Amino acid sequence: MDIKNVIVIGTGTMGQGIAQWFLQQNTTVEMVDANYDFALKSMDRIHESLDSLVAKGKLEAALVSDLKKKLSVKKLEEINPKADLVIEAIIEDKEIKKDLFKKLDELMDQNTVLASNTSSFPITEMAKDLSAGRQKKFLGLHFFNPATIMKLVEVINGLETDRSLSQEILKWFNSKGKVACLCGDAPGFIVNRVARNFYGESLRAVGHYDLEKIKEVDTVMREVGGFKMGPFELMDLIGIDVNLSVTESVYRAFFDEPRFKPHRLQKEMVDGKRFGRKTKKGFYIYE
Ligand code: NAI
Repeated sequence: MDIKNVIVIGTGTMGQGIAQWFLQQNTTVEMVDANYDFALKSMDRIHESLDSLVAKGKLEAALVSDLKKKLSVKKLEEINPKADLVIEAIIEDKEIKKDLFKKLDELMDQNTVLASNTSSFPITEMAKDLSAGRQKKFLGLHFFNPATIMKLVEVINGLETDRSLSQEILKWFNSKGKVACLCGDAPGFIVNRVARNFYGESLRAVGHYDLEKIKEVDTVMREVGGFKMGPFELMDLIGIDVNLSVTESVYRAFFDEPRFKPHRLQKEMVDGKRFGRKTKKGFYIYE
C-alpha cells in the first residue's frame, strides 16, 4: 500500500507536525481547521520550518519548493473525497470528534481510511456510529510530539478494524522511518497510560504551584533520572489543557481508578489559561 494523499483535520500542536511529516514523505497534504485563519498560520509555520531545514543544509531548496506546492488549506466541504487517509487531530473531546467522523463518513469515498490521533479515547467507541464498511477502515494512529521528530506511532485497532489494513499501515510507517507499534484499545493505549503516573506523582509531589519545587523535580528527573524532559517541562510542551483532558478521560475510563486521578493544580493552570508553551505561559514562562 502507499499513502499519497492525506487530509489532516485540526492544525494545532499535533496536526501541524503530522502534516509536515507527511509532506516530507512526499505526500499531498490538505489541512482543515475549525479556525481557517489559524490553519493558514499553521501552513506558514510549516513553510518556515521547511525553510529552516534548508538553511541548516538538511533539505534541498528545490525539493522544499516542490513540497510547498503539495500543501494546502481547505474548508471541510472542499477536501478531496478520494484521499487515501484522513487523520483527525482536533481537541480531545469525544463528542466533537465523533460528530466530525460522522460527517467524514458521508463525505469520503468508501476506500478512504479514517484515523484518530486521540490520546485516550477508545477506538471502538469512536467508530461505533459509523457505517459498517467504514468501521473496518477506522483506526487509531497516535503520533507523539513533535511529530516530525518523535519516531513512535501507536497503531490501534478497534474491534471492527480490518487487521490486514492496520498491518499494511504499520509496515508503511516503518518503511518511512517511524517506529510503529500495534497497541490494544485500552484507555491511554501504552505511553499515555504509563505516563499518567509520571505526571500525576510529580504533581502530587509539588502539591501546589511552587516554581522552585517544579524546577527541582524537573532537574532531578532529567539530570539524574535520565528522562529527556522533566514532567513539568513535558506538560508545558504537550499543553496543560490537553494533558488534563487526557488525564480526565483515562481516569473515567478506568472507572475512577485513584492512580489516574487528575490533580487540582492541573485544573488551576487551565483555569488561569496557562496552557504551556502554546500560550507562552505554563509551569514556566516563555519569552
Ligand atoms: P491543539 O489544541 O493544539 O489543536 C487543536 C486544533 O483543533 C485547534 O487548532 C482547533 O481550532 C481545532 N479544532 C477544534 N475543533 C475542531 C473541529 N470540529 N474541526 C476542525 N478543527 C477543530 O491540540 P493538540 O495538542 O494538537 O491535540 C490534538 C489531538 O492530538 C488531541 O486529540 C490530543 O489528545 C492528541 N495528541 C496531543 C499530543 C500533544 O502532545 N499535544 C500528543 C499526541 C496526541
